[in-house]
Amino acid sequence: MSQAGTSSELILGIESSCDETAAAVVRAGREVCSSVVHSQIAEHAPFGGVVPEIAGRSHLRQILPVVEEALDQARVDLDDLAAIAVTSRPGLIGSLLVGLCTAKALAYARGLPLVGVHHIEAHAYAATMESDVQLPALALVVSGGHTALYRMASPTDLALLSQTLDDAAGEAFDKVAHLLGLGYPGGPEISRLAEEGDPRAIRFPRYRAKEGRPSFSFSGLKTAVLYHLRGQDALAPTPAPEDIERPQDVAASFQEAVVDTLVGETLRSAEREGLETILVTGGVACNARLRERMGEAAAERGLRAVFPSPAYCSDNAAMIAGLGFELWRTGATADLELDASAR
Ligand code: KG4
Ligand code: ZN
Repeated sequence: MSQAGTSSELILGIESSCDETAAAVVRAGREVCSSVVHSQIAEHAPFGGVVPEIAGRSHLRQILPVVEEALDQARVDLDDLAAIAVTSRPGLIGSLLVGLCTAKALAYARGLPLVGVHHIEAHAYAATMESDVQLPALALVVSGGHTALYRMASPTDLALLSQTLDDAAGEAFDKVAHLLGLGYPGGPEISRLAEEGDPRAIRFPRYRAKEGRPSFSFSGLKTAVLYHLRGQDALAPTPAPEDIERPQDVAASFQEAVVDTLVGETLRSAEREGLETILVTGGVACNARLRERMGEAAAERGLRAVFPSPAYCSDNAAMIAGLGFELWRTGATADLELDASAR
């Protein structure tokens, strides 16, 4: 018998929607027994972004070792599990299928229930795992692929309020980092460079949503950075990174514009919806300036902003196992016909 003992509340979570192969064992939706993440960053970095073909192949190599390590670290066997939860949507289809087929095979072999989890809803759930959160709450999910606001009535009841018109916030960080000659992923690099810069040096535009329109837009901001770098002549070539003047000011001013937009629109939405708790999750929620500004702005209005630890902001399988538990206990299990969906 394994160390963790037989428990009807242990869920194995599997995540492979983008460029992280991850597995985790979580008890009762909150107690993380193990969380293993294999990042593919080094494999995609030479291309400046995620290459779907490389991602799928890498998941295939990593998935079984990662699952085994998660079980080993938690000291549980497959037979100790109550269910297996897996990200089934949205994401890169070839990547999703690797996790999904693995989860199906294990569930079938051991006669375990299978639970399909929505990746973005799991990001929102992550904010409820480490602290007691009063629901309903507003959830801002900001990642490389998504920037969206949800009304979270319960862990399994999320209503999409609004999303980005074009680029996701993380995508904008990655694209601007590329213009500045920084590495991939761009968010952490911009954030580091911005620490040495002046956020008021350049006044980049802030998108302000009109009534009934999507809350966010970042493609105009990205273009504004490009034109700033080219100077007066919009048709001039983009300067080489070493010729850019005070890149730290560009990074700090760009980051400030993103943070202003995210904080402003999130607080307006909280007010409109009458919600007092704001959950901020997804890779961009690792950003120190966003954490600081959102925390301050919420406190000024008597609201509470909750951020998961950075390890649970970016892609991980603990959030999949966590939300998987909530779904499993409400009977929302899937059969072996469960399909992956890019959207
Ligand atoms: O949630 P995530 O790990 O994967 C997706 O589901 O997309 O988010 C990755 C995104 C990348 O665009 C990355 O640049 C951004 O999160 N990111 C950050 C920071 N750390 C990661 N953006 C801004 N500041 C950071 N510190
Ligand atoms: Zn994600």
